[in-house]
Amino acid sequence: MTDINKSFGGVCALSKACIRVKPGEIHALVGENGAGKSTLMKILSGAYQKDKGEVRIDGKPVNISSPHVGRKLGIATIYQEFALAPDLTVAENIYLDHLSSRKGIINWSKLYKSAGELVKSIGFDIDPCSMVRDLSVAYQQVVEITKALSEKARILILDEPTAVLALRETERLFEILRRLKQQDVSVIYISHRLDEIFRVADVMTIIKDGTITGTVAPTDVTTDDVISMMIGRKLTTMFPYTMCILAIVLTL
Ligand SMILES: Nc1ncnc2c1ncn2[C@@H]1O[C@H](COP(=O)(O)OP(=O)(O)O)[C@@H](O)[C@H]1O
Ligand SMILES: [Mg+2]
Repeated sequence: MTDINKSFGGVCALSKACIRVKPGEIHALVGENGAGKSTLMKILSGAYQKDKGEVRIDGKPVNISSPHVGRKLGIATIYQEFALAPDLTVAENIYLDHLSSRKGIINWSKLYKSAGELVKSIGFDIDPCSMVRDLSVAYQQVVEITKALSEKARILILDEPTAVLALRETERLFEILRRLKQQDVSVIYISHRLDEIFRVADVMTIIKDGTITGTVAPTDVTTDDVISMMIGRKLTTMFPYTMCILAIVLTL
């Protein structure tokens, strides 16, 4: 994505934003609340239209005019609020879009078998006959990711995926992401939990007030460096102030 601009009314949400994601890369997008992370990803998925700029896939300019076009191009978003049908089975959810567009007889046993295999391919064992409403939030997320893979997603966008997960579930999500990486899927991972990003991301892009302030490898920077890029000033300028407060507290 190159030089992306987007305003909502008078509010500039993105200004000349650029991000470049490679195949098989876990790319974190980091920034404070309201920095423009979701807006940038909604433009990529086709949910929002950019005012200016260019999006290219495999070097070719693309016009992602709707979420439908985005999905056709292999871009899938996993949202915090899940978009599954609770009263359908795991397999039905995974193949829902195929089913609704298909004519003729559905081979159910084949459908259940391939859903089970697809779930296994990312390292899970969930009964494809289970009802989605009976699954934990973490397992529902697994079904959503599997659904995206069934639609041949090449770019998977996860917007604050761990907000709804317990610690152990987060670990398992990271395992999935590493497996997707081996399958050459690109993962764009939005989070403000820097500790997670440092563990899972190959590269991170930092955004502040709609402007990209840097793209760095976690091995090249410290948490403080990233926070500085998020808030736009050096953390050390806070230091004398903190020491002052500390001194006052200690004398009291
Ligand atoms: N649909 C919208 N209508 C109006 N303003 C929006 C809309 N979506 C986002 N914004 C504004 O754009 C800016 C960036 O928001 P967002 O992309 O959601 O940030 P982030 O995901 O980094 O928290 C914010 O100022 C937000 O209020
Ligand atoms: Mg957001």
